[in-house]
Amino acid sequence: MTTGTTPSASETTEVVLEADGLTKHFPIRKRGRELLSRTTRAVRAVEDVDLRLRRGRVTALVGESGSGKSTVARLLAQLYPQTSGAVRLHGEPVDARGSRRFRAYSKRVQMIFQDPFASLNPVHTVRYHLTRALKIHGNAGSSAQDLERALADLLTRVQLTPPERYVDKFPHELSGGQRQRVAIARALGADPEVLLADEPVSMLDVSIRLGVLNLLRDLKERLRLAVLYITHDIASARYFADETFVMYAGRVVEGGDSETVTQRPAHPYTQLLIDSAPDPDRPAAEEKDGGTGEPPSLISPPAGCRFNPRCPHAMRVCTREVPPPFPIDDGPGHFAACWLYGEVTGADAEKPRASREEVL
Ligand SMILES: Nc1ncnc2c1ncn2[C@@H]1O[C@H](COP(=O)(O)OP(=O)(O)O)[C@@H](O)[C@H]1O
Ligand code: SF4
Ligand SMILES: [Mg+2]
Repeated sequence: MTTGTTPSASETTEVVLEADGLTKHFPIRKRGRELLSRTTRAVRAVEDVDLRLRRGRVTALVGESGSGKSTVARLLAQLYPQTSGAVRLHGEPVDARGSRRFRAYSKRVQMIFQDPFASLNPVHTVRYHLTRALKIHGNAGSSAQDLERALADLLTRVQLTPPERYVDKFPHELSGGQRQRVAIARALGADPEVLLADEPVSMLDVSIRLGVLNLLRDLKERLRLAVLYITHDIASARYFADETFVMYAGRVVEGGDSETVTQRPAHPYTQLLIDSAPDPDRPAAEEKDGGTGEPPSLISPPAGCRFNPRCPHAMRVCTREVPPPFPIDDGPGHFAACWLYGEVTGADAEKPRASREEVL
Protein backbone atom coordinates (compact mmCIF):
# COMPACT_ATOMS: atom_id res chain seq x y z
CA MET A 1 0.00 0.00 0.00
CA THR A 2 1.74 3.17 -1.07
CA THR A 3 -0.73 5.83 -0.21
CA GLY A 4 1.62 8.39 1.36
CA THR A 5 2.43 11.65 -0.29
CA THR A 6 6.23 11.53 -0.09
CA PRO A 7 7.83 8.55 -1.79
CA SER A 8 10.26 6.74 0.51
CA ALA A 9 13.72 5.73 -0.63
CA SER A 10 12.43 2.18 -0.79
CA GLU A 11 9.55 3.22 -3.02
CA THR A 12 12.03 4.05 -5.71
CA THR A 13 13.43 0.51 -5.73
CA GLU A 14 11.96 -2.20 -7.90
CA VAL A 15 8.83 -4.01 -6.74
CA VAL A 16 9.39 -7.75 -7.08
CA LEU A 17 6.29 -9.29 -5.53
CA GLU A 18 3.01 -7.60 -4.71
CA ALA A 19 -0.37 -8.39 -3.27
CA ASP A 20 -3.33 -6.45 -4.55
CA GLY A 21 -6.63 -6.68 -2.68
CA LEU A 22 -5.56 -10.10 -1.42
CA THR A 23 -8.41 -11.88 0.39
CA LYS A 24 -8.73 -15.35 1.90
CA HIS A 25 -11.87 -16.83 3.44
CA PHE A 26 -11.67 -20.40 4.79
CA PRO A 27 -15.12 -22.01 4.50
CA ILE A 28 -16.26 -23.80 7.65
CA ARG A 29 -17.57 -27.32 7.20
CA LYS A 30 -21.27 -27.47 8.03
CA ARG A 31 -22.50 -29.58 10.91
CA GLY A 32 -25.89 -30.56 12.32
CA ARG A 33 -28.66 -28.10 11.47
CA GLU A 34 -26.26 -25.97 9.42
CA LEU A 35 -26.42 -28.66 6.72
CA LEU A 36 -29.89 -27.37 5.86
CA SER A 37 -28.75 -23.78 5.51
CA ARG A 38 -27.81 -22.37 2.12
CA THR A 39 -25.15 -20.06 3.47
CA THR A 40 -21.67 -21.32 4.23
CA ARG A 41 -19.87 -19.60 7.05
CA ALA A 42 -16.19 -18.79 6.66
CA VAL A 43 -13.18 -17.62 8.63
CA ARG A 44 -12.40 -14.28 7.02
CA ALA A 45 -8.67 -14.56 7.69
CA VAL A 46 -7.30 -12.01 5.20
CA GLU A 47 -9.27 -9.12 3.77
CA ASP A 48 -8.21 -6.78 0.97
CA VAL A 49 -4.48 -6.68 1.71
CA ASP A 50 -2.14 -4.60 -0.47
CA LEU A 51 1.57 -5.17 0.00
CA ARG A 52 4.72 -4.60 -2.04
CA LEU A 53 8.05 -6.39 -1.59
CA ARG A 54 11.04 -4.63 -3.11
CA ARG A 55 14.45 -5.81 -4.26
CA GLY A 56 17.08 -5.50 -1.54
CA ARG A 57 14.51 -4.51 1.13
CA VAL A 58 13.02 -6.15 4.19
CA THR A 59 9.30 -5.57 4.69
CA ALA A 60 7.90 -6.51 8.09
CA LEU A 61 4.36 -7.74 8.61
CA VAL A 62 3.51 -7.31 12.28
CA GLY A 63 0.46 -8.37 14.27
CA GLU A 64 -0.71 -10.54 17.11
CA SER A 65 -1.39 -14.24 16.76
CA GLY A 66 -4.38 -14.98 14.51
CA SER A 67 -4.23 -11.66 12.64
CA GLY A 68 -3.64 -13.40 9.28
CA LYS A 69 0.13 -12.98 8.82
CA SER A 70 0.89 -16.61 7.94
CA THR A 71 -2.10 -16.73 5.62
CA VAL A 72 -0.70 -13.71 3.72
CA ALA A 73 2.69 -15.46 3.44
CA ARG A 74 1.10 -18.70 2.24
CA LEU A 75 -0.95 -16.84 -0.33
CA LEU A 76 2.17 -15.04 -1.56
CA ALA A 77 3.92 -18.43 -1.76
CA GLN A 78 0.84 -19.78 -3.60
CA LEU A 79 0.52 -22.66 -1.14
CA TYR A 80 -3.20 -22.18 -1.55
CA PRO A 81 -5.36 -20.05 -3.81
CA GLN A 82 -6.74 -16.67 -2.80
CA THR A 83 -10.48 -16.08 -2.52
CA SER A 84 -10.04 -12.83 -4.44
CA GLY A 85 -7.39 -10.28 -5.30
CA ALA A 86 -4.11 -10.90 -7.06
CA VAL A 87 -0.49 -11.79 -6.46
CA ARG A 88 1.89 -10.30 -9.03
CA LEU A 89 5.53 -11.12 -9.70
CA HIS A 90 7.28 -8.33 -11.61
CA GLY A 91 3.84 -6.99 -12.47
CA GLU A 92 2.56 -10.26 -13.96
CA PRO A 93 -0.37 -12.03 -12.28
CA VAL A 94 0.88 -15.30 -10.81
CA ASP A 95 -0.70 -18.58 -11.80
CA ALA A 96 1.00 -21.42 -9.93
CA ARG A 97 -1.67 -24.06 -10.50
CA GLY A 98 -0.26 -27.46 -11.37
CA SER A 99 3.05 -28.88 -10.19
CA ARG A 100 5.22 -27.58 -13.03
CA ARG A 101 4.05 -24.00 -12.72
CA PHE A 102 4.25 -24.18 -8.93
CA ARG A 103 7.85 -25.41 -9.12
CA ALA A 104 8.79 -22.63 -11.51
CA TYR A 105 7.19 -20.10 -9.16
CA SER A 106 8.76 -21.51 -6.01
CA LYS A 107 12.19 -21.28 -7.62
CA ARG A 108 11.70 -17.52 -7.45
CA VAL A 109 9.68 -17.21 -4.23
CA GLN A 110 10.84 -19.30 -1.27
CA MET A 111 9.42 -19.58 2.23
CA ILE A 112 11.09 -20.13 5.61
CA PHE A 113 8.93 -21.44 8.42
CA GLN A 114 8.87 -20.80 12.13
CA ASP A 115 9.83 -24.26 13.33
CA PRO A 116 13.17 -25.54 12.03
CA PHE A 117 12.54 -28.88 13.82
CA ALA A 118 9.42 -29.52 11.76
CA SER A 119 10.80 -28.27 8.46
CA LEU A 120 13.83 -30.61 8.30
CA ASN A 121 13.35 -34.36 7.97
CA PRO A 122 15.06 -36.01 11.00
CA VAL A 123 16.22 -39.07 9.05
CA HIS A 124 18.15 -37.05 6.46
CA THR A 125 21.43 -35.16 6.63
CA VAL A 126 22.12 -31.54 5.75
CA ARG A 127 23.70 -32.80 2.52
CA TYR A 128 20.48 -34.57 1.52
CA HIS A 129 18.27 -31.51 2.19
CA LEU A 130 20.50 -29.08 0.34
CA THR A 131 21.27 -31.43 -2.57
CA ARG A 132 17.57 -32.01 -3.11
CA ALA A 133 16.85 -28.28 -3.23
CA LEU A 134 19.76 -27.66 -5.62
CA LYS A 135 18.65 -30.49 -7.92
CA ILE A 136 14.94 -29.62 -7.95
CA HIS A 137 15.75 -26.08 -8.98
CA GLY A 138 18.48 -26.96 -11.47
CA ASN A 139 21.36 -25.47 -9.49
CA ALA A 140 23.39 -28.63 -8.74
CA GLY A 141 25.76 -28.25 -11.74
CA SER A 142 26.80 -31.15 -13.93
CA SER A 143 29.46 -32.94 -11.91
CA ALA A 144 30.11 -34.19 -8.39
CA GLN A 145 32.61 -31.35 -7.91
CA ASP A 146 30.01 -28.79 -8.98
CA LEU A 147 27.61 -30.18 -6.41
CA GLU A 148 30.23 -30.16 -3.62
CA ARG A 149 31.08 -26.56 -4.47
CA ALA A 150 27.41 -25.54 -4.49
CA LEU A 151 26.86 -27.22 -1.10
CA ALA A 152 29.91 -25.50 0.37
CA ASP A 153 28.72 -22.16 -1.04
CA LEU A 154 25.29 -22.51 0.51
CA LEU A 155 26.67 -23.41 3.94
CA THR A 156 29.17 -20.56 3.78
CA ARG A 157 26.42 -18.10 2.85
CA VAL A 158 24.52 -18.96 6.02
CA GLN A 159 27.75 -18.84 8.04
CA LEU A 160 27.90 -22.56 8.84
CA THR A 161 31.65 -22.77 8.39
CA PRO A 162 33.77 -24.67 7.71
CA PRO A 163 31.10 -26.39 5.55
CA GLU A 164 32.61 -29.87 6.00
CA ARG A 165 31.83 -29.68 9.70
CA TYR A 166 28.08 -29.41 9.00
CA VAL A 167 27.32 -31.04 5.67
CA ASP A 168 26.99 -34.62 6.93
CA LYS A 169 25.19 -33.81 10.18
CA PHE A 170 21.63 -34.87 10.99
CA PRO A 171 19.15 -32.24 12.21
CA HIS A 172 19.28 -33.56 15.81
CA GLU A 173 23.04 -32.90 15.88
CA LEU A 174 22.45 -29.18 15.28
CA SER A 175 21.18 -26.39 17.53
CA GLY A 176 17.90 -24.60 16.74
CA GLY A 177 19.80 -21.65 15.27
CA GLN A 178 21.97 -23.91 13.11
CA ARG A 179 18.89 -25.77 11.91
CA GLN A 180 17.20 -22.51 10.92
CA ARG A 181 20.38 -21.60 9.02
CA VAL A 182 20.14 -24.91 7.15
CA ALA A 183 16.48 -24.12 6.32
CA ILE A 184 17.62 -20.73 5.00
CA ALA A 185 20.42 -22.39 2.99
CA ARG A 186 17.88 -24.79 1.51
CA ALA A 187 15.69 -21.85 0.44
CA LEU A 188 18.76 -20.20 -1.11
CA GLY A 189 19.40 -23.44 -3.04
CA ALA A 190 16.61 -22.32 -5.37
CA ASP A 191 18.46 -19.03 -5.99
CA PRO A 192 15.23 -17.10 -5.30
CA GLU A 193 14.36 -13.42 -5.65
CA VAL A 194 11.97 -13.39 -2.70
CA LEU A 195 12.24 -14.90 0.79
CA LEU A 196 9.07 -15.12 2.84
CA ALA A 197 10.20 -15.62 6.44
CA ASP A 198 7.30 -16.52 8.75
CA GLU A 199 8.39 -15.77 12.33
CA PRO A 200 11.86 -17.16 11.53
CA VAL A 201 13.30 -16.53 15.00
CA SER A 202 10.35 -16.79 17.36
CA MET A 203 11.13 -20.41 18.30
CA LEU A 204 14.84 -19.76 18.83
CA ASP A 205 16.60 -18.82 22.05
CA VAL A 206 16.64 -15.07 22.56
CA SER A 207 20.44 -15.13 22.58
CA ILE A 208 20.73 -16.42 19.02
CA ARG A 209 17.83 -14.52 17.39
CA LEU A 210 19.93 -11.51 16.52
CA GLY A 211 22.49 -13.66 14.69
CA VAL A 212 19.80 -15.17 12.43
CA LEU A 213 18.18 -11.76 11.79
CA ASN A 214 21.57 -10.28 10.93
CA LEU A 215 22.12 -13.16 8.53
CA LEU A 216 18.82 -12.41 6.76
CA ARG A 217 19.75 -8.75 6.56
CA ASP A 218 23.15 -9.62 5.14
CA LEU A 219 21.49 -11.83 2.50
CA LYS A 220 19.07 -9.14 1.37
CA GLU A 221 22.03 -6.81 0.92
CA ARG A 222 24.43 -9.23 -0.77
CA LEU A 223 21.90 -11.15 -2.87
CA ARG A 224 19.51 -8.19 -3.31
CA LEU A 225 16.63 -10.35 -2.07
CA ALA A 226 13.16 -9.01 -1.37
CA VAL A 227 12.38 -10.28 2.15
CA LEU A 228 9.04 -10.47 3.94
CA TYR A 229 9.72 -10.68 7.67
CA ILE A 230 6.70 -11.80 9.67
CA THR A 231 6.76 -11.17 13.39
CA HIS A 232 4.57 -10.44 16.40
CA ASP A 233 7.43 -8.37 17.84
CA ILE A 234 7.15 -4.80 16.57
CA ALA A 235 10.45 -3.84 18.24
CA SER A 236 12.34 -6.29 16.01
CA ALA A 237 10.62 -4.79 12.95
CA ARG A 238 12.11 -1.41 13.77
CA TYR A 239 15.55 -2.89 14.08
CA PHE A 240 15.44 -5.18 11.09
CA ALA A 241 12.93 -4.00 8.46
CA ASP A 242 13.00 -1.09 6.03
CA GLU A 243 9.21 -0.90 5.85
CA THR A 244 6.62 -2.12 8.34
CA PHE A 245 2.97 -3.06 7.84
CA VAL A 246 0.70 -3.76 10.79
CA MET A 247 -2.15 -6.26 10.56
CA TYR A 248 -5.19 -6.45 12.77
CA ALA A 249 -7.88 -9.11 12.39
CA GLY A 250 -7.08 -9.83 8.75
CA ARG A 251 -6.58 -6.26 7.55
CA VAL A 252 -3.53 -4.04 7.14
CA VAL A 253 -4.16 -1.05 9.43
CA GLU A 254 -0.93 0.93 9.12
CA GLY A 255 2.24 1.02 7.08
CA GLY A 256 5.24 3.09 6.15
CA ASP A 257 8.95 3.16 6.76
CA SER A 258 9.81 1.23 9.92
CA GLU A 259 11.28 4.16 11.80
CA THR A 260 8.12 6.26 11.36
CA VAL A 261 5.63 3.47 12.08
CA THR A 262 7.43 2.41 15.26
CA GLN A 263 8.38 5.88 16.53
CA ARG A 264 5.21 7.74 15.54
CA PRO A 265 2.47 5.12 15.28
CA ALA A 266 -0.73 6.68 13.96
CA HIS A 267 -3.27 3.87 14.29
CA PRO A 268 -4.68 3.23 17.78
CA TYR A 269 -3.93 -0.49 17.40
CA THR A 270 -0.26 0.13 16.51
CA GLN A 271 -0.06 2.45 19.51
CA LEU A 272 -1.45 -0.33 21.69
CA LEU A 273 1.09 -2.83 20.28
CA ILE A 274 3.96 -0.48 20.99
CA ASP A 275 2.75 0.46 24.47
CA SER A 276 2.47 -3.19 25.41
CA ALA A 277 5.83 -4.28 23.92
CA PRO A 278 8.61 -4.68 26.48
CA ASP A 279 11.00 -1.74 26.20
CA PRO A 280 14.35 -1.84 28.00
CA ASP A 281 14.45 1.99 28.11
CA ARG A 282 11.14 2.30 29.93
CA PRO A 283 10.44 1.47 33.59
CA ALA A 284 8.25 -1.63 33.92
CA ALA A 285 5.59 0.41 35.75
CA GLU A 286 4.94 2.46 32.61
CA GLU A 287 4.18 -0.56 30.49
CA LYS A 288 0.58 -1.27 29.81
CA ASP A 289 -0.90 -4.71 30.03
CA GLY A 290 -1.74 -5.11 26.36
CA GLY A 291 -4.88 -3.01 26.51
CA THR A 292 -8.43 -4.08 26.89
CA GLY A 293 -10.26 -6.75 25.02
CA GLU A 294 -9.44 -9.55 22.65
CA PRO A 295 -9.15 -9.75 18.86
CA PRO A 296 -12.58 -10.29 17.32
CA SER A 297 -14.04 -13.42 15.80
CA LEU A 298 -13.07 -13.68 12.16
CA ILE A 299 -16.24 -15.63 11.40
CA SER A 300 -18.46 -12.63 12.06
CA PRO A 301 -16.02 -9.73 12.44
CA PRO A 302 -17.27 -6.32 13.62
CA ALA A 303 -18.69 -4.13 10.85
CA GLY A 304 -16.65 -1.08 9.84
CA CYS A 305 -13.25 -0.91 11.48
CA ARG A 306 -12.54 -4.32 12.98
CA PHE A 307 -10.76 -2.63 15.90
CA ASN A 308 -13.81 -0.58 16.92
CA PRO A 309 -14.92 -2.71 19.91
CA ARG A 310 -11.47 -2.19 21.51
CA CYS A 311 -10.75 1.34 20.37
CA PRO A 312 -10.86 4.21 22.89
CA HIS A 313 -11.42 6.71 20.04
CA ALA A 314 -14.21 4.85 18.21
CA MET A 315 -16.84 7.02 16.50
CA ARG A 316 -20.14 6.07 14.91
CA VAL A 317 -18.65 5.93 11.45
CA CYS A 318 -16.15 3.35 12.71
CA THR A 319 -18.92 0.87 13.47
CA ARG A 320 -20.34 1.16 9.98
CA GLU A 321 -17.70 1.83 7.34
CA VAL A 322 -14.30 0.28 6.73
CA PRO A 323 -11.69 3.05 6.95
CA PRO A 324 -9.58 3.41 3.79
CA PRO A 325 -5.83 4.01 4.13
CA PHE A 326 -5.35 7.72 4.85
CA PRO A 327 -1.93 9.26 4.17
CA ILE A 328 -0.13 10.68 7.22
CA ASP A 329 2.18 13.50 6.30
CA ASP A 330 4.96 12.78 8.78
CA GLY A 331 7.03 10.15 7.05
CA PRO A 332 7.65 8.55 3.70
CA GLY A 333 4.75 6.39 2.55
CA HIS A 334 3.12 6.51 6.00
CA PHE A 335 -0.60 5.68 6.07
CA ALA A 336 -3.21 4.57 8.60
CA ALA A 337 -6.56 2.93 7.90
CA CYS A 338 -8.34 4.89 10.61
CA TRP A 339 -11.18 7.42 10.54
CA LEU A 340 -9.26 9.71 12.91
CA TYR A 341 -7.34 10.83 9.82
CA GLY A 342 -10.41 11.34 7.64
CA GLU A 343 -12.86 14.21 7.48
CA VAL A 344 -15.51 12.94 9.88
CA THR A 345 -18.20 15.38 10.95
CA GLY A 346 -21.64 15.56 12.56
CA ALA A 347 -23.28 12.46 13.97
CA ASP A 348 -20.60 10.27 12.36
CA ALA A 349 -18.03 11.79 14.71
CA GLU A 350 -20.04 11.08 17.85
CA LYS A 351 -19.31 8.21 20.18
CA PRO A 352 -21.02 5.03 19.05
CA ARG A 353 -24.22 4.12 20.87
CA ALA A 354 -23.58 1.94 23.93
CA SER A 355 -23.88 -1.72 23.20
CA ARG A 356 -26.91 -3.54 24.58
CA GLU A 357 -24.75 -5.32 27.14
CA GLU A 358 -23.58 -1.97 28.51
CA VAL A 359 -27.17 -0.69 28.77
CA LEU A 360 -28.44 -3.79 30.54
N1 LIG B 1 -6.34 -23.71 6.80
C1 LIG B 1 -7.14 -22.99 7.59
N2 LIG B 1 -8.45 -23.30 7.75
C2 LIG B 1 -9.28 -22.55 8.52
N3 LIG B 1 -8.88 -21.45 9.20
C3 LIG B 1 -7.59 -21.10 9.10
C4 LIG B 1 -6.66 -21.83 8.30
N4 LIG B 1 -5.44 -21.22 8.39
C5 LIG B 1 -5.61 -20.16 9.22
N5 LIG B 1 -6.90 -20.09 9.63
C6 LIG B 1 -7.48 -19.06 10.51
O1 LIG B 1 -7.17 -17.81 9.94
C7 LIG B 1 -6.86 -16.85 10.94
C8 LIG B 1 -5.50 -16.26 10.68
O2 LIG B 1 -4.53 -17.25 10.90
P1 LIG B 1 -2.97 -17.05 10.60
O3 LIG B 1 -2.81 -16.53 9.23
O4 LIG B 1 -2.28 -18.32 10.94
O5 LIG B 1 -2.59 -15.90 11.64
P2 LIG B 1 -1.17 -15.49 12.26
O6 LIG B 1 -0.10 -16.08 11.40
O7 LIG B 1 -1.19 -14.00 12.26
O8 LIG B 1 -1.14 -16.03 13.65
C9 LIG B 1 -6.98 -17.58 12.27
O9 LIG B 1 -8.27 -17.34 12.80
C10 LIG B 1 -6.82 -19.02 11.88
O10 LIG B 1 -7.51 -19.85 12.78
S1 SF4 C 1 -11.26 3.73 12.56
FE1 SF4 C 1 -12.29 4.30 14.45
S2 SF4 C 1 -12.40 2.43 15.67
FE2 SF4 C 1 -10.90 2.10 14.04
S3 SF4 C 1 -8.98 2.60 14.98
FE3 SF4 C 1 -9.67 4.47 13.97
S4 SF4 C 1 -10.84 5.58 15.55
FE4 SF4 C 1 -10.55 3.50 16.30
MG1 LIG D 1 1.49 -17.32 11.94
